[in-house]
This record gives sequence, structure tokens and C-alpha cells, in this order.
Amino acid sequence: VDKPNVVIVIFGATGDLSKRKLFPSIYRLYQNGKIGEDFAVVGLARRPWTNDIFREKVCESINESQAHNEDDLESFAAHFYYQSFDVTDNSSYTHLDGLLDQLEGQYQTNGNRVFYLAMAPEYFGTIANQLEQNGLKESAGWTRLVIEKPFGHDLASAKELNNQIRLAFNEDQIYRIDHYLGKEMVQNIEVIRFANGIFEHLWNNRFISNIQVTSSEKLGVEERARYYDRSGATRDMVQNHMLQMVALLAMEPPIKLTPDEIRSEKVKVLRALRLVEPTEVENYFVRGQYGPGRLGKGYREEAPELKDSTTETYVAGKVMIDNYRWAGVPFYIRTGKKMKEKSIKIVVEFRDIPMNLYYKDESERHPNLLVINIQPDEGITLHLNAKKAGVGSIAQPIELSYTNNGVDGINTPEAYEKLIYDCIIGDTTNFTHWDEVAYSWKFVDAVLDAWSETEPLFPNYTAGSMGPEAADRLLEKDGFHWWPVTD
Ligand code: BG6
Repeated sequence: VDKPNVVIVIFGATGDLSKRKLFPSIYRLYQNGKIGEDFAVVGLARRPWTNDIFREKVCESINESQAHNEDDLESFAAHFYYQSFDVTDNSSYTHLDGLLDQLEGQYQTNGNRVFYLAMAPEYFGTIANQLEQNGLKESAGWTRLVIEKPFGHDLASAKELNNQIRLAFNEDQIYRIDHYLGKEMVQNIEVIRFANGIFEHLWNNRFISNIQVTSSEKLGVEERARYYDRSGATRDMVQNHMLQMVALLAMEPPIKLTPDEIRSEKVKVLRALRLVEPTEVENYFVRGQYGPGRLGKGYREEAPELKDSTTETYVAGKVMIDNYRWAGVPFYIRTGKKMKEKSIKIVVEFRDIPMNLYYKDESERHPNLLVINIQPDEGITLHLNAKKAGVGSIAQPIELSYTNNGVDGINTPEAYEKLIYDCIIGDTTNFTHWDEVAYSWKFVDAVLDAWSETEPLFPNYTAGSMGPEAADRLLEKDGFHWWPVTD
């Protein structure tokens, strides 16, 4: 179906995510003709808003975020309804049931329902349960549940949460969002690898020396200190986004491009991650927390409750994948808040040539690199060596670059826009399956448990730097260094 009919029910409709990502994304789908007129959105939250107030907020969020057409916007907002909601109260669900029946008549959505949980995870279980108990999953069409992170705090709590949700929904109805999987260039990893013989034949431990995955942010914790301080960079970024990128870089070619086939290859990678031994954690992982610097205050000064915090706002790791293809090849990952640049980038470093014929000085030798730029630039660059023009045979590094300008000059769709669309057409490829969540937690838990044994020496990097020095040594002792995030 290219224009699916659906009611999207958003729990947490007054929140930040709804405003910043969900409303604008649904608007773009509407504007680009990906959804037609047969849709409605129901916003739920505690506040006593009316449909009119809700519609105004929806328009505001679109006004602030992007180009739009006023007429369009008005007819778009008319599809939005609001209900003041208490997630623990039965009567809220009964009322919602009535509203959905009414909207389904009005908009011919064929009973297709998406329940989007854009709110604190402690209510996920309750909501799933109440939806089931109150018959909201019984409709003439399909029902799907979309869940935002965090999915648990560790493996044990993730399991518990999953068990609760699974009492009401089947795995194939559950869409766990990892918004990195909606990014254009993250989706491109598979195509770059599996549609190019020149890379795929070299994509293993015989030809690749190491792979570096960076996601650095200039932002701090903004208004999320409470969540973030309980979480830290490892839970917030590594358990999901970073390990998902590693899985896509390392997986075997799937036999078909179906969600099940792709997932089973990713799961194999996650199963092969070497679990860090408690006594060895220092050799594999570095944690950091920013102190005052070029980008302002230190983490501990951001909010009164962070005064003595030992939460890491930075993490770098050496991830080993113990399988045939990757034995011996480190995947270095790093991510942090208040770093020098906003950049998401992958650098694949190929092994060097066996002998130097073209350089006077060893330091001039440059290994071949394949750089995948995910953000802010989107594209790929291949670093090669070629002859320096003129007499003699001296080599110099050159770059072949491709910049992704989007389709027909239209900006590439935002991650959320693609993921919401995938959900309403029922494509689970870019959502994380429970098995992936479980193996990633297992890996991350080992690191966090080891860290919990000792008190970190924080702060250890300044706001606006590229992270703690120890992260440089992590690579140096293997004979490598981080490639810069800017060219
Ligand atoms: C989220 C994290 O999942 O990803 C945030 O919770 C982080 O802390 C964000 O800022 C980064 O996303 P992006 O798309 O800006 O790299």
C-alpha cells in the first residue's frame, strides 16, 4: 500500500519528542503524499488540552522546524485529536476506545492502529497491558506498538520489560525505535558493502586493520539531566546506536533483503562480541566526564543534582568480534557529549602495502581509508594514493568523494519520517528485534559491571575537546590513532 490508512495514537503527545520529531515527520509524510487523507492522530497526555490547543501546538512545532504551506498545514492539523489521559486509569482507555471507534468511522482507517509510546519507559508495561485488557487491540485491522528507548537499564530489567510487553503484543507487532537505523547513510552501509565487489572482497581481517565509529556531540545533557545521569553514555548511545552500526559493518551478507534475514545476520555479530573481563576493562574501555572548557560548564555544574555525579558522558571502546571474518580486527567506538564537533562518522582503515616504494619518509605513508560520513555531511570518501604530478615517482594521498544530496534535490528524509512510514507499512527491517537488544545489553552490562568496581577520576576531559587522553592511548598501544572527524 503506498498510502496506508491508519490512526496513530501518541502517548506523551505534549513531550519533547512529539514536538521535535513526531509531528514534523508526520507532516512531511503528508506533504510528500506518503499518507493521504485517511489518517488521524490522537495525542494523549496528562494535561487538560483541547483538540484546538493540541492542533495549535502541532502547527507551532511545524512552523518552527521546516518549510510548509499554510493551507496544507491547516488541513493537516485537522486530523489531530487530543485526549487528556491517565495511563494507570481504566476509564482513560475506555474513553480512548470510544474515540478510536468514532475516528475509524470518520477516516476509514480500516481499524489499523499504531500505539506510539513516546514517554518514560516505566509505563510501557502498564500501557501495553491496559491496551490488551481494555480491548484496544481488537480492531478490524492491524495493531502495532512503537517503543522509544531506553529499553531497560540493563539486561535483567530489559527482560522484565520485554516479558510485560509480550503478554500483550507479539514480537512482530513491536517496533523498537533506534533512530540511527533511520539515518540515510546508516542504511547505506549495507548497500555500500554488498553492492560493491571492490569492497566486499576486502571486507575482512586479511585486508582491514581496524574500523572506527565515532558519534560525537557538541550538545550537553540539556533538559534531560535526570534521565541522563541514571543512564550515561554507555547505556544512552553504545547499547543501541553504536552497536547497531558495528553490527551493520560486520554482518555477513543476508541471503535476502527481508527483515528476518538481515536481523539474523546482525544477531550473529552481536553474539560474537567479546565480553570484557572485569580485570581487563581498562584495556578495552575508557570512560570520561566533561569538566569546564571551551563549550562552557562542566557536567557536575550543569544541575545541582549532578554535583557529585560519577556518570560517564563519554565512552570509547575497543570492540572485538570473535568470528572467522573479524578475528583480530578492533572496532573502535567512541561517543560523548560536549565534544569538539557534532559528527557521526565511520572510518574503515585498510592494511598497508607490504613495502614502501614511493615515500622518502615512512611518515608520509597513508593507508587506504573508506570514510562513511553520516552526519552532518552525508557521503563517502575513499582515500587513495596517486602519483604527485611532475618528475620522479612520489606518491601523495588523494580523495574520491561522493556527497549524498538526496533524491532529485529533495533533502534526504529525516530518520523519524522513514521509521514512522516503515512502521505503518509494516516493514520491521530498521527496528531492533528483542534478540539484538538482549545481546547488546549483555555486552554493555559486562563493561558497566567492571566499572562499578572502581570510582572514576572525573572530570577528565574539557567541554569542547575530543575526549580524555586515555582514549588516544587505547589505539596507540595497538599501533593506530583516531582519524579526525573533520577533514
Ligand atoms: C539519542 C540519545 O538516542 O541520540 C541522545 O538519547 C543523543 O542523548 C542522540 O543526543 C543523538 O542523536 P543524533 O541523531 O543527534 O546523533
